[in-house]
Amino acid sequence: MTTLGTPLSPRATKVMLLGSGELGKEVLIALQRLGVETIAVDRYDRAPGQQIAHHARTIAMSDPDQLKALIEAERPDLVVPEIEAIATPMLETLEAAGTVRVIPTARAARLTMDREGIRRLAAETLGLPTSPYRFCDSLQELREAIDGGIGYPCVVKPVMSSSGKGQSKLDGPQDVERAWEYAMAGGRVSHGRVIVEGFIDFDYEITLLTVRARGADGSIETHFCEPIGHLQQAGDYVESWQPHPMHPAALQKAREIARAVTGDLGGQGLFGVELFVKGEQVWFSEVSPRPHDTGMVTMITQWQSEFELHARAILGLPVDTTLKSPGASAVIYGGVDGEGVVFDGVDQALRVPRTDLRLFGKPESFAKRRMGVALAYDVDVEAARANAREAAGKVVPRLPD
Ligand SMILES: Nc1ncnc2c1ncn2[C@@H]1O[C@H](COP(=O)(O)OP(=O)(O)OP(=O)(O)O)[C@@H](O)[C@H]1O
Ligand SMILES: [Mg+2]
Repeated sequence: MTTLGTPLSPRATKVMLLGSGELGKEVLIALQRLGVETIAVDRYDRAPGQQIAHHARTIAMSDPDQLKALIEAERPDLVVPEIEAIATPMLETLEAAGTVRVIPTARAARLTMDREGIRRLAAETLGLPTSPYRFCDSLQELREAIDGGIGYPCVVKPVMSSSGKGQSKLDGPQDVERAWEYAMAGGRVSHGRVIVEGFIDFDYEITLLTVRARGADGSIETHFCEPIGHLQQAGDYVESWQPHPMHPAALQKAREIARAVTGDLGGQGLFGVELFVKGEQVWFSEVSPRPHDTGMVTMITQWQSEFELHARAILGLPVDTTLKSPGASAVIYGGVDGEGVVFDGVDQALRVPRTDLRLFGKPESFAKRRMGVALAYDVDVEAARANAREAAGKVVPRLPD
């Protein structure tokens, strides 16, 4: 049985989000609707989720001592990582000591925080199909890995990075040195370690949102959302849509892969499983043990968005992954660098039929920072994509007068 408390009372159910960007903000809203007391943590003040939570805390989440002190001071029932750059070994220590429960598990947070942990688990332990890969610690090793079998084209990524940072595609030996230097500059921490992957010439890529939630008999059940198609530019998602049509055999393989990897990571919650598809062939790419940016489309396509599904699953509540309507999302970038930007054209954007908008409220804009998203539903994905793009294009961020 799940019993929830009253926020700001002695019996409150307290949830701490580690990372309070646009995805965390929506998880916080879903939790607030269930009367959960929320603590939004980020590395800077006035992060989107901090603006709507009961409590806002600003710390360096990659610092184990700061993380431990905060968790011990707040004593949340659940700690929910929203980003990768967290001192996850400390989360494992605190979880093992029974201080706190980490979503979905502290081990999952650790394994997915860098590309090596999750890739070795998927390919070597679980035997799932992935691109061929090697890990390298120097330019010399990178050259040897490519010449020794990975070949061209290939992709080089820092082991610790997200949103395409430091990632590049190599078409021949002339690209190796530049790719190495780009990876060294773009990694989250300068470990100097990269993964080189053989380039998969896929027909399309999907995110398969997978939910591990408690069933009526108390056992964990795995639920799948309809596949989400997406378009990536420079490693960052610019558009997503749902459902993405799939050959039944490919869909079945995708679900088997997602079930295997999320089953091993364990715990309760929603996962974003990234897969490449060519005909009936499916490759595992990576997984987020939390809502996925391409899944923002579910705010308009599903009865329960990925954020509501996550909130429900982590609290032990039942979930429903049913699609409500085909739909799409299109990202709104900052376009300008500066603080306190204003958004022109919001009314024109919302005059595009069957659309909605999220402006995240980030205090500072960068040209390539995601500041909002346009959502659209329609009779089919093509119509929705066109309207989402049109609405996104009408919102124009600019520096205030
Ligand atoms: N081996 C590969 N073959 C072909 N395309 C690839 C390969 N690896 C990555 N890509 C392309 O680059 C995109 C980003 O790669 P990946 O998901 O590994 O990086 P990321 O930095 O974790 O991105 P994000 O944080 O946005 O998910 C993929 O969605 C895919 O479009
Ligand atoms: Mg990715």
